[in-house]
Amino acid sequence: MAYSKRCIVTGAAGFIGSALARLLLKETDATVLVVDKLTYAGVPESLKEVGLDPATLASSNPRLAFLKADICDAAAMDRAFAEFRPDTIFHLAAESHVDRSIDGPGEFIRTNVTGTATLLQAARTYWQGLDDAAKAAFRFQHISTDEVYGTLGATGFFTEKTPYSPHSPYSASKAASDHLVRAWHDTYGLPTLITNCSNNYGPYHFPEKLIPLIILNCLDGKPLPVYGKGANVRDWLYVDDHARALLLVNEKGVPGETYNVGGHNERTNLDVVKTVCAILDELRPRGGTDGGSGAGTDGGSGAPAPRPRYEDLIQFVADRPGHDLRYAIDPSKLMNELGWQPRENFETGIRKTVEWYLANDWWWKPIHEKRYAGQRLGKA
Ligand SMILES: NC(=O)c1ccc[n+]([C@@H]2O[C@H](COP(=O)([O-])OP(=O)(O)OC[C@H]3O[C@@H](n4cnc5c(N)ncnc54)[C@H](O)[C@@H]3O)[C@@H](O)[C@H]2O)c1
Repeated sequence: MAYSKRCIVTGAAGFIGSALARLLLKETDATVLVVDKLTYAGVPESLKEVGLDPATLASSNPRLAFLKADICDAAAMDRAFAEFRPDTIFHLAAESHVDRSIDGPGEFIRTNVTGTATLLQAARTYWQGLDDAAKAAFRFQHISTDEVYGTLGATGFFTEKTPYSPHSPYSASKAASDHLVRAWHDTYGLPTLITNCSNNYGPYHFPEKLIPLIILNCLDGKPLPVYGKGANVRDWLYVDDHARALLLVNEKGVPGETYNVGGHNERTNLDVVKTVCAILDELRPRGGTDGGSGAGTDGGSGAPAPRPRYEDLIQFVADRPGHDLRYAIDPSKLMNELGWQPRENFETGIRKTVEWYLANDWWWKPIHEKRYAGQRLGKA
């Protein structure tokens, strides 16, 4: 692809940022500077396949460099802009887990709000020093969530014009950051782009989030916690489809505009959990492929007992406080104006995801053992 910009990608040791960095390095000629603080959610191993040494953060890829820094550190951000001289910045660094925002909102305000403001100021200072052509071509792209719009009832979709109505400390902090980005566009003329995306899933997803948590709990034979009755609806997008949308918006989006990203894949949480269970029943049956320990004989009849299914591990637990009922994205602006189409639907994407976790325990096992073992968060 004829895309050869110099890109700062903040938060690229995280789930979506690493997918974007892998896309930029594998399928374009872009040069990437990752800026990431490496919080509990930062996993440099996610960039190993594009040349990063996770132990030293040195890169064998001449188009990739890693700067371990906090986006709230104004001097470090000024230096990063001055030395790397980017054509664009994709801003994904954030505290991203709703349940953790319930337990400790302070870090969400610091990184998501103050950190975004700090980056905007660093970008503005750098941008003002560019010549006219470079100034016009520069983009500050802010990656946000559909959660800023609040909750839907049984029908309807979020459009770019839906009023903001965030309910969790996470979504409120993201809403604040979106407003800051718009303010820097409207006040200073900084060429900004905002994308609001639905729930992502896919490889390299930190195991605190629903889908990887369910996969790993299944493999451990642990209960599968489902909040409330599992009736909350989310609109799921495969992470690589999100990364492609971000690249497209960066190339073709109109400065000052917002684009919603979603692929019309609404599922209740219970459906999602049952789908993961069914794929694992097929690919890694409980009790092993030969019938194993789980499948004994049925009483005196001699007939084999039914094989235990992963679904039997589902446990309904107390709901998340302030849990939004339904999110669903209307992506027609992105599709009609910029020509985006997702490549995966939920069925194809979720199968790829389960297969990836089965094949890549080198990535998730150390996280599971040392950083997060599946405990309940965010009960307030
Ligand atoms: N995950 C989703 O479903 C989803 C959907 C829509 C939008 N988003 C948004 O996309 C972005 C990325 O989400 P994700 O799921 O990849 O998050 P993530 O939690 O997997 O990764 C976040 C990354 O940011 C880094 N980081 C955190 N605080 C930092 C700081 N102060 N300075 C520098 N780096 C810091 C972390 O180390 C980590 O590598 C976020 O802005 C999030 O709001 C996420």
